[in-house]
Amino acid sequence: MDGDFVKTGIEGLDQMLNGGIPRGNQVVLAGGPGAGKTLLSFEFLYRNAKAGNTSLLFALEEEPERVLMNAKKAFTSFTDIDELVKSKKLIIDGEDLVGVLRSGASSDSSQYEFGKIVSDIESLVSSSKANAIVIDSISVLDLLLNEPLAYRRSMLALASNLRRLGITSILTSELQNPERSKLQFQTEFFLFDGIIVMYGKGEEEKREQAMEVIKMRGTKHSFVTTPYDITQDGINVITPEDMAL
Ligand SMILES: Nc1ncnc2c1ncn2[C@@H]1O[C@H](COP(=O)(O)OP(=O)(O)O)[C@@H](O)[C@H]1O
Ligand SMILES: [Mg+2]
Repeated sequence: MDGDFVKTGIEGLDQMLNGGIPRGNQVVLAGGPGAGKTLLSFEFLYRNAKAGNTSLLFALEEEPERVLMNAKKAFTSFTDIDELVKSKKLIIDGEDLVGVLRSGASSDSSQYEFGKIVSDIESLVSSSKANAIVIDSISVLDLLLNEPLAYRRSMLALASNLRRLGITSILTSELQNPERSKLQFQTEFFLFDGIIVMYGKGEEEKREQAMEVIKMRGTKHSFVTTPYDITQDGINVITPEDMAL
């Protein structure tokens, strides 16, 4: 049974997914800024590494060092992060795309940059033998390519590359409007096997965060909108089972 899934290691989310992410799936993790996409992704990779696998984070929005620093600050009970990094079970790499964007890249150099990212990811996956990767985020690629057709083509290329590598992946994506009632999906989301959304719920003063599995090929997942908290012990997903206790 376990062989069919890569566990996120986040208990409530694995319950929602009825076991974990089906092996080899490409999952878009979408949400507003500050929803916890990077932290959730990090926890997934951390727990996957702790279980003896090799995990890979490819950061495009922030420097890899900053991702690591923020994760350590948020998850103070994860005291063995450095060990996992040192033993190369947890590999945090990336490309400073924000820097490229600031320098005002031309469309030719953007295409080149995108090609370089895809090939860097490919060689990292092959050399590390990682079973799971997070690309944080694909929204930066949208900014980089800056043209819907170029972006869609590039997403197709990325999706088919990841599929060929057979790696289980999470691609984070920034939602413009993270309210449930205003959810809109860009067409490229349908290229991927799964969509998990993290969004704000409720009125201004009592805003709550909740997540929902919109789609996940290969598993009978929950459709329930499920609240979560970011705690020092990880993302705490409060499933209906938890509430019944
Ligand atoms: N040290 C911390 N302690 C508790 N919560 C934190 C800490 N650092 C960040 N957070 C929470 O995590 C959120 C940022 O998470 P992040 O994964 O970076 O969001 P996203 O990638 O979706 O923009 C913050 O808005 C805050 O709510
Ligand atoms: Mg982020």
